[in-house]
Amino acid sequence: MRKVLIIGMGAGHPEHITIQAVNALQRVDVLFVTDKGPDKDDLARLRREICARYVPERSLRTLVIPDPERDRNPADYHTAVETWHEQRACIYEALFTEQLGEDECGAFLVWGDPSLYDSTIRIVEQIAARGAVEFEYEVIPGITSIQALTARHRIALNQIGAPVQITTGRRLAAQPEPLSTDTVVLLDGECAFKTLTDDRLEIYWGAYLGTPDEILLSGPLGEMSAKIQQARAAARDRKGWIMDTYLLRKPAAPRR
Ligand SMILES: C[S@@+](CC[C@H](N)C(=O)[O-])C[C@H]1O[C@@H](n2cnc3c(N)ncnc32)[C@H](O)[C@@H]1O
Repeated sequence: MRKVLIIGMGAGHPEHITIQAVNALQRVDVLFVTDKGPDKDDLARLRREICARYVPERSLRTLVIPDPERDRNPADYHTAVETWHEQRACIYEALFTEQLGEDECGAFLVWGDPSLYDSTIRIVEQIAARGAVEFEYEVIPGITSIQALTARHRIALNQIGAPVQITTGRRLAAQPEPLSTDTVVLLDGECAFKTLTDDRLEIYWGAYLGTPDEILLSGPLGEMSAKIQQARAAARDRKGWIMDTYLLRKPAAPRR
């Protein structure tokens, strides 16, 4: 039976990959690589480095999968994402059928962990449900950008017994103030934190986490907001792309 592995590769550091993932790579015949825009050279470099370091004796067949064009500002966000998933499912299904032998193992090396803001699991699930090609699939976890962020700032993700929300810049911008919980923000191209007015908030920000270009900044949001925006813009100009994540921490509730 064909096998498909969805492997978390960590979010930038070649050592942020689990031993389970390294062992899984030993079984892989074909690596499916999605072609993802301007930052693709750095992503591809990390993938190559991981393979060279952990499976030097295997020569994996690498297939670069073209990513269908996606409407970035659709009137209906959910329908646009579903359409895009459907297009990707068709491409992946054809690859499984045509490029993966009956007893071969294919793998997606997914940035960070496959469960966090990534569509690979949903798309593979969709192909399995259609039943046109028979295969088994497995998910192998990886270190997320959130774990890389908290480790580098040497902080716990949650305050004692308290919840944390994980959201996107777009959703943060639409959320009423004050925030009801500590909040981790990903996928924020617009610095949504700049509009927040709660001066008790602290921010822990990280860009290019785990890579040689890593930048870390933290402190009271009121003091750090402009500094982070400047650092972000300068880094983005320098490299041509940026990936950043941050935690907004509310002061601990007073104990009764
Ligand atoms: C599509 S999501 C994928 C998240 C990924 N699956 C994970 O586990 O971290 C991409 C977002 O993750 C965050 N991100 C990923 N890698 C990062 C890194 N090395 N440094 C900072 N943020 C990162 C950024 O917010 C970026 O916009």
